[in-house]
Amino acid sequence: MAHIELKNITKKFGGHTALTSLNLEIADGEFFVLLGETGAGKTTTLRLIAGLEKPTEGQVLIDGVDVADWGAAERDVALVLQQYSLYPRYTVRENLEFPLKPKIRRLPDAEIKDRVDRAARTLRIEHLLDRKTDRLSGGEMQRVSIGRAIVRKPRVFLMDEPLSALDAKLREALRTELKNLQMQLGATFLFVTHDQIEAMSMGDKVGVLNHGRIVQTGTPQEIYNNPRDTYVASFVGSPPMNLIDGKLVNGRAVMAPLNFELPFSGGAKASAATDGRPLVFGIRPEDVYLESGAPVEARVHDVENHGVEKILTLRVGDTTLRATVPARTDVAIEQPVRFAWNPDKVVLFDKGSGVSLRHAG
Ligand SMILES: Nc1ncnc2c1ncn2[C@@H]1O[C@H](COP(=O)(O)OP(=O)(O)O)[C@@H](O)[C@H]1O
Ligand SMILES: [Mg+2]
Repeated sequence: MAHIELKNITKKFGGHTALTSLNLEIADGEFFVLLGETGAGKTTTLRLIAGLEKPTEGQVLIDGVDVADWGAAERDVALVLQQYSLYPRYTVRENLEFPLKPKIRRLPDAEIKDRVDRAARTLRIEHLLDRKTDRLSGGEMQRVSIGRAIVRKPRVFLMDEPLSALDAKLREALRTELKNLQMQLGATFLFVTHDQIEAMSMGDKVGVLNHGRIVQTGTPQEIYNNPRDTYVASFVGSPPMNLIDGKLVNGRAVMAPLNFELPFSGGAKASAATDGRPLVFGIRPEDVYLESGAPVEARVHDVENHGVEKILTLRVGDTTLRATVPARTDVAIEQPVRFAWNPDKVVLFDKGSGVSLRHAG
């Protein structure tokens, strides 16, 4: 187990800056998810911690110790990748034993057997131990890859999109399993993904990375309810938060180009400070509701059925917004409806910077 800290890390590849002044702290035993789109700098971050890259500036600390001069092996971290690299002509057991049989400092045979058996039990691959790894399904192979990390008992697990190559159902199953595994081991996990659902469902903490910068770090709830800026607001949640341009006028939300108004209860402080300033109003689809007496009229533009709920796209003028409503709601395309929002759930963003007024301080 270990505590990880990245202090003011900048990483350049030639003229390209992959990471800029990155600060990150992962507590001992925490499941930390780094969430970002392709090219955001996730793999680079993992490689810096693993000792496979050196930072251009800044420090990597493991348990408070600057590890700049430590090689990858000394850092004692395990990296699990999206593409599993197993030895195909060997059995699962042999694949699990390899990390424990370096030429120097080899573990006693009894200890190796014990660790392999435990890992296999934990990952429920005991029945596969004697099978060649090229005879395994994708999910089984990924379990073996994770097993190869577990047997080493590393200080930290670094996981680089380990579930991305799997089909949806398996991904969901392994999500739960990995989370359980982490809790069972009490280990420090840094899990990177571009999948916001993975991040929100697995992370104790989530760090959102955009173009090599950490935009926000927090619990999944904090990130969902209180996104730092419009980037995070539209990245996290499906469907994403509605973002509508407007202004606050006398404590009411006035949507500037569209000319519709909604009540706003952001408190005297927010409205006094922001009257007339160009804003973006953020509202989650589940906080938009239909009601016959509601203030704004819209047309139903689209209906998506999701079993327990429907996701409606509503059209007001030439703007659309999403509303999540119960499945029993009876609506047809082009039907006129009236909607309102929960005024307590509205998040205000500055139109110019995109930063939430709650975070601007
Ligand atoms: N070895 C390298 N040489 C040059 N550019 C690189 C190298 N590794 C990564 N990059 C660049 O750094 C950025 C971040 O890459 P990466 O960390 O792989 O992102 P992610 O894993 O989030 O998709 C990308 O623009 C990528 O092209
Ligand atoms: Mg990557």
